[in-house]
Amino acid sequence: MRAARSLPFGAGDPVVPPLVQSVAFAHGSAAEQDAIFANERPGYVYGRYGSPTTAALESALAELDAADGAVCFATGMAAIHAYFTGCALAAGGRVVAQEDPYGATRALLERLAREQAADVVFVDPTDASAVARALEERPTRVLYVESISNPLLRVTDVAALASLAHARGAKLAVDATFASPMLTRPRELGADVVIHSLTKYVNGHGDAMGGSVAGAGDVVAEMRERAIIDGGYLPPHEAWLILRGLRTLELRVRRQCETALAVARHLAAHPKVGRVHYPGLPSHPQHELASRQFGGAYGGVVSFALKSDTREAAFRFLDALEVVASATTLGDLYSEILYPAMSSHRRMDLAERARLGISDGFLRVSCGIEDPEDLVADLDRALELT
Ligand SMILES: Cc1ncc(COP(=O)(O)O)c(C=O)c1O
Repeated sequence: MRAARSLPFGAGDPVVPPLVQSVAFAHGSAAEQDAIFANERPGYVYGRYGSPTTAALESALAELDAADGAVCFATGMAAIHAYFTGCALAAGGRVVAQEDPYGATRALLERLAREQAADVVFVDPTDASAVARALEERPTRVLYVESISNPLLRVTDVAALASLAHARGAKLAVDATFASPMLTRPRELGADVVIHSLTKYVNGHGDAMGGSVAGAGDVVAEMRERAIIDGGYLPPHEAWLILRGLRTLELRVRRQCETALAVARHLAAHPKVGRVHYPGLPSHPQHELASRQFGGAYGGVVSFALKSDTREAAFRFLDALEVVASATTLGDLYSEILYPAMSSHRRMDLAERARLGISDGFLRVSCGIEDPEDLVADLDRALELT
């Protein structure tokens, strides 16, 4: 895992409490305001154009993501939408995307393809020759992947995909939400653009939503323009909460990864569990890659299927849990469980869901910072009822 020294904040952090921060008044003389509007000098003229607190979060993220800059949006999906419409698919761009990204990302791409004739194809990102073939079919602007996929926890080889994309004139964009900047910095491995749902690990307290796009200057300029004209910019109060979360990112993620590894090992040996997906287990198909790419940590999420792989067993299991909260989100201080067949993958074609392995008894646990023994005891008690 990444060292704490690289977390970009300190006592001099220029965070302005949001309540004393005006978003309505332009500052400085008319000539100074004119220069700010013209992007000739830094400054703030209106909340949607930028605010000191959101700017502080953006500069911290730009440093964490090793980027020229970052732009923050109201949610992860707002960031992803801004990137696809503003950069990747703008003016006839073509996207080759991971076949199993976060459900709303796939739904967004399918919708853009259906309603706006966007050129999008889906591919298995762990199959290098399939990715190469897809990139070669037609000129492609962006290859889009998640560094750890949701909810199957497949791991993508960022360095290899970056070379593959660049050799064919495409950029690589990585949604690094699950890995967080603590496990990987995709731009240091060759990726061009890094996207986060800040709602998850970066904030980590389950009390604010946000998203970010980080990259080179041209991407940042386009994302800034999208935030201004589409209106999805992250408001200062949320940025303030997310900056608060960022301060403990390293501590939280370290603990969550240790707990997740213990939970994954325990579940893998449990007679009521059919299969476990966790990059830290030697049985995971990309275990060796994950060890190399993530520096010895494997993320805080564990997915597994019940041996009794049915909806009834899953319901009994979910209803019996006391420590693990039923929640659609992940990456928070407390442990959370998601039942994809009921929620995120409810609308997915049944055959496609089965092909991917998201069966009726498939569950996703996001480990919190509780005592790991409490967590394991809670899971064990509920498993007895399946
Ligand atoms: C990998 C990934 N990317 C993006 C998102 C969307 O983020 P948000 O819910 O903040 O819009 C999610 C949400 O779960 C996610 O898991």
